[in-house]
Parts: sequence; C-alpha cells; structure tokens
Amino acid sequence: MKIGIIGSGNMGRSLGILWAEQGHEVFFGARTTEKGQEVATNAGHKTQGGSNDAAAAFGAVLLYTVRGVNPAKVFSSVSVLDDKVLIDCNNQEIPENFEYPAIARSLAETLAAEVPKARVVKAFNTMAQELFELAPDPLKNYKVSVFVAGDDESAKQTVMQLANEIGFQAIDCGKLRHARLIESAGDLIRLLMIQQQMGSTVTISVHALPPAQSQRLGGRQDSNLK
Ligand SMILES: NC(=O)c1ccc[n+]([C@@H]2O[C@H](COP(=O)([O-])OP(=O)(O)OC[C@H]3O[C@@H](n4cnc5c(N)ncnc54)[C@H](OP(=O)(O)O)[C@@H]3O)[C@@H](O)[C@H]2O)c1
Repeated sequence: MKIGIIGSGNMGRSLGILWAEQGHEVFFGARTTEKGQEVATNAGHKTQGGSNDAAAAFGAVLLYTVRGVNPAKVFSSVSVLDDKVLIDCNNQEIPENFEYPAIARSLAETLAAEVPKARVVKAFNTMAQELFELAPDPLKNYKVSVFVAGDDESAKQTVMQLANEIGFQAIDCGKLRHARLIESAGDLIRLLMIQQQMGSTVTISVHALPPAQSQRLGGRQDSNLK
C-alpha cells in the first residue's frame, strides 16, 4: 500500500516506520522538503520524503498528524485529498489543569467537514508514542485496542488492517460521529498518563470476556427505569 505521512513528528515518524517495516511504501511529508527527506533517510526501509503536497499525492492512505489545522493551510490544493483514506490520529491540546471542555464535535468530524471528498477515519489516538516503540513485538501479546471510526466502510477496513498488521487489535467503532467518544478516550488516557502519573505505556483496551458459568446474581433482568 502507498502511505503518505502528513507531518513527520512523533506520530508520523513512528507509524511510518512501522508500516514501512511491514513492506508498505511510505513517503514522509513535512512543511519543508528537506525535513521530509531527512526523516526518510533516518527511517530507511526504502522510504521517501519531501513536502506534504508530495506525500499527499503519493499515498492512497494518508496519516494526518497536524492537529486542528485546516488542510487548506497545509496543501497547495485540497483536491489532492479527494478519495484518499485520511487517518486522523489527533487529540485536542491538553487544557490547563486537565479541565476539558465538553466535546461538541470531534477533530475528525471537523476535518471531514473541511475536506468532504476525503474518506476520513479516526484511529491511533488512544496510545502514546512509547507504545508504538513496542510494536509489533511484544505489543501483540497485550491485545491493545485501536478504536477505529469512519463513514466509509472500505476506508475503515483498510485502517483496521493497517492497525492489526503492526500488532494492535483494531476495534470497529462504527460511524465517524463516534470519533468524539474515541477522542474522549484519548483525553482520559492522557489524564491517566500525565496527571495521574501512570506513565506513557498505559493505554485503553476493550476485551470481551467469556460469560459466567452460572447466573448466581440473578442475571440481567428487564430494567424498569423510564
Ligand atoms: N505523540 C503521541 O504520543 C501521540 C499519541 C496519540 C495521538 N497524538 C496526537 O497526534 C498528533 C500529532 O502528535 P505528534 O506527537 O506527532 O506531534 P509532533 O511531534 O509535534 O508532530 C506534529 C507535526 O505536525 C507538523 N505541523 C505542526 N504545525 C503545522 C502546521 N501549522 N502546518 C503544517 N504542519 C504542521 C509538524 O511537521 P513538520 O515539522 O514535519 O512539518 C510536526 O512534525 C497530535 O494531535 C497528538 O495529540 C500524539
């Protein structure tokens, strides 16, 4: 698969290298051609680098790491994003004292509204860079969830495959509207990591457990809440 990285910082560099290790063709984009090329030179694995425009033109799948910046300010023309799978891995900036405002609309939904011809998928925002350093081994032993949401089914399946390939467990979270829930999970995990000092390798996973052998608590009964 051809993957373009838009913004080659911590997330872009880490995911780009992991996908290149799996044999994907990766192009690191940055605000300057020199920076993109430098990241590619350091990354190896036959990766290429250059401008964000060039990365977007290259990839069928694009990782968008530029938090809250309208693509119209990043690319010469947003038409370069038409039909592309556009992965939004962003979290909102941490507010002072972790006093988060209620989310009315997610970053991913805002991005989708800005580039309606792109196929936006939310993913990879509920774990820190330190966790990617463990991928794919020993990460795969821990069944770490990547929560994935998007309105385009085939785009979502592509991103789920890319998550699974590098040792995560992709969880289909339905429509892009649910990105607001996934972003809240990202906010929670950073609260635990930083304010609650649990460290950068904590993350959020969901697990379906086997049901109890007997229902000694009476089992689930009809609720009479109105
Ligand atoms: N780091 C993590 O552990 C982590 C984990 C989960 C989610 N996230 C989220 O992922 C996003 C990226 O995080 P990061 O840690 O990768 O940040 P980062 O290391 O600062 O990289 C972000 C990149 O964005 C580019 N950029 C910044 N402002 C720009 C602008 N105005 N126009 C165009 N490009 C711009 C820069 O690219 P160039 O300098 O290359 O041009 C920079 O390298 C954030 O929303 C963050 O919340 C981060």
